[in-house]
Amino acid sequence: MPSVAVRWVTSTCRRDETLSASSTHRTGGSSSTRRGWTSGRPRLRGRLGSDGGHAGRATVPALGHRPSRAGTADPVALEIDVLTLFPDMLDGPLSGSIPGRIREQGLAEIRVHDLRRWGLGKHRSVDDTPYGGGAGMVMRPEPVAAALDELRRPGSTTVLFDPAGERFSQAWAHDLAARSHLILVCPRYEGVDDRIRALVDVELSIGDYVLTGGELPALVVIDTVIRLLPGAIDAASTAEESFADGLLEYPQYTRPATFRGSKVPATLTGGDHGAVRRWRLREALRRTLERRPDLLAGRPLTGEESALLEELRSETEPGS
Ligand SMILES: C[S@@+](CC[C@H](N)C(=O)[O-])C[C@H]1O[C@@H](n2cnc3c(N)ncnc32)[C@H](O)[C@@H]1O
Repeated sequence: MPSVAVRWVTSTCRRDETLSASSTHRTGGSSSTRRGWTSGRPRLRGRLGSDGGHAGRATVPALGHRPSRAGTADPVALEIDVLTLFPDMLDGPLSGSIPGRIREQGLAEIRVHDLRRWGLGKHRSVDDTPYGGGAGMVMRPEPVAAALDELRRPGSTTVLFDPAGERFSQAWAHDLAARSHLILVCPRYEGVDDRIRALVDVELSIGDYVLTGGELPALVVIDTVIRLLPGAIDAASTAEESFADGLLEYPQYTRPATFRGSKVPATLTGGDHGAVRRWRLREALRRTLERRPDLLAGRPLTGEESALLEELRSETEPGS
C-alpha cells in the first residue's frame, strides 16, 4: 500500500500526516452525471443577496454553480470548514477509505476548527446556562458568530446542524456538492443560542432522533457530498444508486451463482445487456413500490416505467 502525505488542517494546529492509501478503490476520472430527477430539490433560505440586517452574510450561489472556482486554476472542487468543540471526532472517518482518497486527490479540502479558538475570556468559554432556567448548557452565540465572520467569503454556504432543520437527503447532497465552500456548524449541549439561526443559510437534520452533537451529522453530510464530486468515484456508481433517479436501487449479486440454494436471477448471467437493463429497472421499481411508495408519488414516469409498474401492480393485486 502506498504511503501518501495528507494535509489535515485545524485552526489550532496545522500538521502534515502520513496515511496509508488503500489501492482497492474504484478510480474515478469522469464527471459525475446529474440525473434529471429533482423532486424535493432543497432550497436555501431566502437570505440571498442583501444582508437583511446580518452583516457579513454571503450571497449564496444558485444551484450548480461554482463561482469561486470558475476560470481559476485551483483544482480543489470543494472546500469545507467544520466548526466543532471536538475536532478529534472528525479526524479518523475523514482520513481513511474513500473520503481519505478524495482528499488525497485534492478534490476536497476539509479544515476542522476548534470552536474554542473563538471562545470568550482566558478560559475560552463557549457555553452558558439557559435564560429562563432548565437543564444543560447552551452554546453562546459570540464564538460561532466570530468564527463565521472570519471564515465566510463570497460564495460560502453556511450550515447549522439541528434536529429542527430540513431533512438531509440525496437531493441536498447534490446541491451542496455543487457549491464551492461549505461551513458546517456543529453545536453541542442543548444546542446553540437561537440567534445563530439567523446567521446561517440552512439548518439541516439527519433524522428524527437526537445526537449529542453536530459532529456525526457533519460526517454524514461530508461523506455523502464529497463522493458526488466529479472524479471522486466512478460516475456510473453515483448515477445508478438509490435515490439518484428517484428510485431505490435494484438488487445486486456477485459470485457464487448459487448461495445456500438461492440462485442469481438468470437474466443477469445471460449476457443480454438490454434484458439486464430492463430487469434492473423493473426490480428498482418493484423495490421502491414495496418499500418506499412515497418516492413514486408525483415522480414523472417514462412510458416503459409506467408499463412496468402496471405489470408489478397487477402481480401484487390480481384482478386490479
Ligand atoms: C443534544 S443535541 C440538542 C438537542 C436540542 N436540545 C433539541 O431538543 O432539539 C446537541 C446538538 O446535536 C446536533 N444534533 C442532534 N441531533 C441531530 C440531528 N438529528 N440532526 C442534526 N443535528 C443534530 C445539533 O447540532 C444539536 O444542537
